[in-house]
Formats: sequence, structure tokens, C-alpha cells
Amino acid sequence: MTEPDLATGLRHEFAGQLAAEDKLPAEWRAAVEAVPRHECTPAFYVPNDAPGITTYVPITPALVGDEAWLRRVYSDETLITQFDGRDIDWSAPQPISGAAPTSSSTLPSLVVQMLDVLDGDDESTVTEYGTGTGYSTALMCHRFGPDKITSVETDPGVAGRARAALDRCGYAPRLITGNGLAGADCTAAADRTIATMGVRGIPWAWVRETVPGGLIVATLRGWLRSLGLVRLVVEDGQHATGRFIAAEPGFMMARQQEAPANLGMLPADDDGKTRETPHGPGVLRMPDSGFVAQLAMPNARTFDMAGDDGGMRTYVLDAANDSFAVLSRDGDGWSVREGGPVSLWGEVEQSLALWHAAGSPAATEFGVSVEPDRQRIWLENAADGPSWRLPVVPGS
Ligand SMILES: C[S@@+](CC[C@H](N)C(=O)[O-])C[C@H]1O[C@@H](n2cnc3c(N)ncnc32)[C@H](O)[C@@H]1O
Repeated sequence: MTEPDLATGLRHEFAGQLAAEDKLPAEWRAAVEAVPRHECTPAFYVPNDAPGITTYVPITPALVGDEAWLRRVYSDETLITQFDGRDIDWSAPQPISGAAPTSSSTLPSLVVQMLDVLDGDDESTVTEYGTGTGYSTALMCHRFGPDKITSVETDPGVAGRARAALDRCGYAPRLITGNGLAGADCTAAADRTIATMGVRGIPWAWVRETVPGGLIVATLRGWLRSLGLVRLVVEDGQHATGRFIAAEPGFMMARQQEAPANLGMLPADDDGKTRETPHGPGVLRMPDSGFVAQLAMPNARTFDMAGDDGGMRTYVLDAANDSFAVLSRDGDGWSVREGGPVSLWGEVEQSLALWHAAGSPAATEFGVSVEPDRQRIWLENAADGPSWRLPVVPGS
């Protein structure tokens, strides 16, 4: 087989395998079979499987050979193409650890799941935020036609490579380099809006630039964890409402919304007031209670550190108001030392109580309402069920 034949064969095999696993909606099969993902991912990193700190290893045709490279490309894997916002020197790529991925070709099964939820038809126009490698853009070009697609990428280097890749794939959609939180500067609103980077709240520009009755599919996330995938219907240019449709995935955060590098001042050992609490730090790590804790403390971050007595403590710090909570073991239970203007752990306790009272529903039972000046996640009903505010994205 020549290399193009090999790529075509592997691509069809891959589509067949995704379909057999029920991970490829029928409407997207032709696109997955047609779009040459290898043109979007000429070189990439994948995490290795070794225990301990995650190390990413480079995969290029020169390093592993054409066939092994193509087999990785046509597999259900996320292929990382950038770390820490810096371009990779592909002349001598080395394993990387201790770095955060900032651009990738997303897991194909997830891309097609999102595209399926987007529920477009032959006439649909789509605005995408997070062009990345251009692979999802290319799938949409195949399905809807390049003249119906606008895609926005914030990183100029990433955007340039995506443009070249899409050109090699034979597609010329409208590509914009800029901060997608401010919208796509479209003259006409799109029927569908999709984002493949995580956002702390839905940028108002996305609602403004989606037609009434149109859909927005995006992932919400906080600084503690991802909240999940949401699908919103734009009602009338003043509201968009919808639901979480999956508690996963966790997309990389929009660049402009990454947590500040500096955690700020750590509380001294005698700062704050100590009391008992029914909840230890485990609630932050469990999927459903972690979701509720993220809602309760939208600006918080957490880390563990040993105290002077050798006991492990969990610090929870709020970057916005300098409130803190420090959790430590207290006999068989837990105590919390809190300080600052807001009782951070008190907010978590209260939110968990509301959630328990509602029967501890999964993330997919929560709704989302977006208005120009406030956004809320709610339970039971939007009007008077328990609700939590999301940070409203400034400048959009
Ligand atoms: C997971 S990757 C996108 C994957 C892509 N859809 C694909 O199939 O290859 C997320 C991308 O979002 C971009 N991004 C982050 N913040 C952004 C913003 N504010 N506006 C537009 N793009 C952004 C990142 O630079 C990154 O390339």
C-alpha cells in the first residue's frame, strides 16, 4: 500500500470501529471516512502509560515511521500539539512533563458526539470556537460546506497551522484569529455555535451571534474541575437555556480564563476560626459532590500540603476575595479553619445540603440559564429551584 492508501484504509477501519462501538453517529460517518486527520496532525504528543507524573512523548513520522504515526492518528485519542501556549520545536522533540496542554486535536469520538448534539442540517451555518488543529472544522466543512463555517482560534501560531492544514484538506472556511470570548464578529448570526475549549460561563457574544431557536454546544468548567457539556437553546436574543448533557468531558480552559498563576498569600496557622464540619476534602474529588462544590465556590482553587504536625491539610483559596478554608483531620471527623469575607466551606456545606435535599441528582439533572448580566445553574426548575451563579464573562 502507498502511504495515501494506507491512510485511507486506516481511516475507514477507524470509522468502522467507532461505529461498531456506537460512538459514531451515522450522519457523521462519511465525514470521518473522508477527512484526512493526518493533515491536521503531522506531529503531536500523547501521554505515556507509566505510573507517576504524566510524561508526554512525541509522535512524528520521522520518530516512529509513517505507519505507526498514521495508526496513532486514526485512533480514538486526543493528540496534543501545544503546551503552555508555546510552540514545539519539532526539529528535535523531547518528552515533556510538568506542562499543561494548550492545543490539541480532541478525541474524535467526543468531537462527533458534540457535532451530533449540535443537530445541524444541510442548511446550517456554524460558528466554532477553538479551531485547534482544524480537524473538527474540517469535519464540519465536509458535512455542511466550507462556506457555512466560521472558526475562531486565539493563538496565532495554532491558527496559522490550522489554516494550512485545512487548505491541504481542500477546505477554505472563514477563519478568524482572535479571542473567541468576544464572539466571531459575524455579520449574520449562526444557526449553531460550538466551542471546543472550556469556559467559566457562556460568553454573551455567543448568544448574541446565534439565531433565535439556534443551539450552543460548549463545555463549562471552573478552576477546580470541569462541569461538563451543555446544550443551550437561544430563545430570543435575551435568554439561552438548556441542560448539562454529560458530566464530562474536561476541555482545556479558554486561554483568557485560566486561573491566575499566583495563588496569593497563604493563611498563617493562627488565621481564621476553626469549627467541625461534616464534610472532608473527599467531597471535592467525588464526581457529583465535586460538581456541586465547584458551583458553590466558582473562584476557588485547592491544594494539599502537610502541616507542622505532619498531618495533611487541604487548602481552599478564593482568588476573588481572599477567603480561605483549611481542612484537617479531627479524630474520626474533619475540622475546617476559615477566614476572609466569605465562609467558603460554609458555601459548600449549604450547597451540598440543597443537593442532598433534592435527592443528590447527577450533573445531567442540572439546568443552565444565560441572560446578559447573569448566568445560573439550577436544579428542578429555572424560576425557583436552588440555583448557583456562574462568573459572567467580561467584555463579551
Ligand atoms: C481542544 S483545542 C481545539 C480542538 C479542535 N477543535 C480540533 O479538533 O483540533 C482548544 C483550542 O481552543 C483554543 N482557544 C483557547 N482559548 C480560546 C479563545 N478565547 N478563543 C478562541 N480559541 C481559543 C486553544 O488555543 C486551542 O487551540
